[in-house]
Amino acid sequence: MQTHVRRIGILTGGGDAPGLNAVIRAVVKSATNAGIECLGLEDSFDGLIFPERSRPLTPRDVTGILRLGGTILGTTNRGNPFAYPISTESGPADYSDRCVDNFRKLGLDALVVIGGDGTLAIAYELHKRGVPMVGVPKTIDNDIVETTMTFGFDTAVEFATGAIDRLHSTAEAHHRVMVVEVMGRYAGWIALYSGIAGGADVVLIPELPYHLDRVAEHIRARERWGARFSIVVAAEGAFSSGGARTVKTEGTTERMERLGGIGETIARELEPLTEKECRHVVLGHLQRGGSPTSYDRVLATRFGSYAVELLLAGQFGVMTALHPPDVVAVPIESVVGRTRTVPADSDVVRTAKHVGICFGD
Ligand code: F6P
Repeated sequence: MQTHVRRIGILTGGGDAPGLNAVIRAVVKSATNAGIECLGLEDSFDGLIFPERSRPLTPRDVTGILRLGGTILGTTNRGNPFAYPISTESGPADYSDRCVDNFRKLGLDALVVIGGDGTLAIAYELHKRGVPMVGVPKTIDNDIVETTMTFGFDTAVEFATGAIDRLHSTAEAHHRVMVVEVMGRYAGWIALYSGIAGGADVVLIPELPYHLDRVAEHIRARERWGARFSIVVAAEGAFSSGGARTVKTEGTTERMERLGGIGETIARELEPLTEKECRHVVLGHLQRGGSPTSYDRVLATRFGSYAVELLLAGQFGVMTALHPPDVVAVPIESVVGRTRTVPADSDVVRTAKHVGICFGD
């Protein structure tokens, strides 16, 4: 298709993930090299709602950001233009028309939207109203469908694995059970991968509701053959069979519920069942910080550069995706409203079970 993209807006939305800056850099460099001007929109869609919160991005502005965590554009998971968190007589404000108007006033031809399912869903709604866009999937949770990997995941797993390595020595020294709570929202990818990489004894994920008595028996069995410590990795979304997720803050129309606290619960409940001292650690936002791994830098750069190829080809309403060994485009409508969870019969789960990891299922 013939394309007339001369000026694009770039935004990052939702929770940050290591590699966001690497995507921004790749988009700006590739676009500039193709004769396209770039405008950075600050704090997700706020940069469209309030156009003064936008600034030109040139290769000079993105030099040196490849290795930086966070996002130079800022982000928020509270700026949905269709339900903006300010009260009006009829509830949250609808700034979607204003976004479409400002998109035109800013002289933009297309948007590159770097975000998770929530941000991509918003972008898709704007796309249907005439705002051409290309999406780039981001999240440490690795839970976006139609791509086998999102950038940020590898860095989060690397951090969690390092933490599990460190907990091994203190757990062993004190003959304790250490429960490590990791992020991941409704998917167990971070727990599964870091649990395998870190040599955990138990991995609890939302996809396989657990029975605590089976977990306790696994720990007691280890004790019987002389392993007097155990490492339990619990995804924040994990829950017991017949139980419910541990929610820290209930969701609202403006933001999703916050999970957290399952690690503490598991440690408390395991103590009487194992007759061992059980402690818990919550890795929390440490998993989102720091420099992206080389894997995430490469994936982020491939996604950013491919997004520009798509713009040049006039292919809009799509998301870059990893279909190894290639980066491809998938329609955004096949992505929104869905979550990629761990298939219970996947080879990764089977592998973990083969090497003796207990899921308590
Ligand atoms: O989606 C990324 C993520 O870090 C989840 O793993 C976690 O549940 C959530 O975001 C936390 O979000 P917030 O930083 O808004 O509390």
